[in-house]
Amino acid sequence: MSSEIRTSIHGQWSSRMMFVMAATGSAVGLGNIWKFPYITGENGGGAFVLVYLLCIAAIGVPIMMSEIMLGRRGRQSPINTMATLAAEAGRPKIWSMLGWFGVIAGFLILSYYSVIAGWALSYVFRTASGMFEGVTADGANSIFTALVSDPEKLLAWHTLFMIATTFVVARGVKHGLEKAVSYLMPMLFALLIVLVFYSMTTGHFMQGASFLFSPDFSKLTAQSVLTAMGHAFFTLSLGMGAIMVYGSYLPQDTSIAKASILIALADTVVALLAGLVIFPIVFANSLEPGAGPGLIFQTLPIAFGQMEAGVLIGTLFFILLVFAAWTSSISLIEPAVAWLVENHGMNRIYASVFVGMITWFVGLGSMLSFNVWSEHRLFGLNFFDLLDYLTANIMLPLGGLFIVIFAGWLMKTEASKNELNTTKSGYNVWLILSRYVAPVAVMVVFLSAIGVIKLS
Ligand code: TRP
Repeated sequence: MSSEIRTSIHGQWSSRMMFVMAATGSAVGLGNIWKFPYITGENGGGAFVLVYLLCIAAIGVPIMMSEIMLGRRGRQSPINTMATLAAEAGRPKIWSMLGWFGVIAGFLILSYYSVIAGWALSYVFRTASGMFEGVTADGANSIFTALVSDPEKLLAWHTLFMIATTFVVARGVKHGLEKAVSYLMPMLFALLIVLVFYSMTTGHFMQGASFLFSPDFSKLTAQSVLTAMGHAFFTLSLGMGAIMVYGSYLPQDTSIAKASILIALADTVVALLAGLVIFPIVFANSLEPGAGPGLIFQTLPIAFGQMEAGVLIGTLFFILLVFAAWTSSISLIEPAVAWLVENHGMNRIYASVFVGMITWFVGLGSMLSFNVWSEHRLFGLNFFDLLDYLTANIMLPLGGLFIVIFAGWLMKTEASKNELNTTKSGYNVWLILSRYVAPVAVMVVFLSAIGVIKLS
């Protein structure tokens, strides 16, 4: 047995808890607090949320287990992990392409993720300056519009955020990151609860809650089902090797099933809390739930402007949001950096700076799509929307599909049994979900989104 256990050259998490923290740090980010509310608003609320929750449970959790398992067994960057595991299972080497596919998806996601994180960063200072005290909905809206239509300001924030991300990746994910996550995540959680209490005072709490939780299936389209599924991948950081590379630093004795369920639960609770904060504010101020990517930046400042100690709470909130984005962003380039270190003997610092610079450059496109390039469109989408659609709705589910097919069908069952090391029935549930439920669900959603099959 011991002969087949590999170790990672990049080090290992110091404990099982640290892995759960780091993976939760990767999962919880802008996806939960910025993206979930705005796409829920755009896709009509309850029914969309229900589909999203189903996707988390039936597709997300088994794929997360598979991804962690592959990582821990391969103990290398996703590219080399897939090559090693393919060889071990007697499958063609082309499976390492899955790692490449993930590296590209990671670049593309981080390039726009950093632009949005830049917005959050600038809101730390705006809130702290007291700019939002007593602000009206129109006021908050024009402050947001002024920011996104100014490419120079955006450039500064985007650059700053990319430097911060590169810095942590250069130091190695373990140093600093572990500590930061274990303090900041619980704080973010506590602050969200405080904000939920504020939302209860708006007089529109029930309206917000029912928007989130009462499904109206007439609002569901094949496209919104695809968006819900894509978001399940996005929010859990699945389908591109981020969780795989984190799994490669995982101690051998950790229960992958328990860790996955814990991560998925924490991630889901944060998203739902964010929804419970945002929508009551939306309705209390007669705003539009479908306002788009600016939604939290147009609603939260109103709340901070009205509440007791709003400057303090608001500033703290945006600081924590930036941290949440930060702990996510590092996982997006870690696969690429780990590969450069493994295959090119590159020093971690150079590798991080190199990858950071490419990502920064691609990010300029997303940055400009909110202003100068806003009219440049392909399929009706600007550069940012296009990247978001391509990565979240297509690349991540496709990557996840191949991961789960490899783990469920192609890997030897002794290997997966050994790695998952769970009860017999636990293993069987995983096997059914990853052999049948997850792959079929992903394919059905894809086919219905491109109109090949009709679900309703
Ligand atoms: N999950 C993060 C969020 O919700 C974003 C993220 C980090 C991600 N790593 C990822 C998304 C890997 C997809 C793949 O904000």
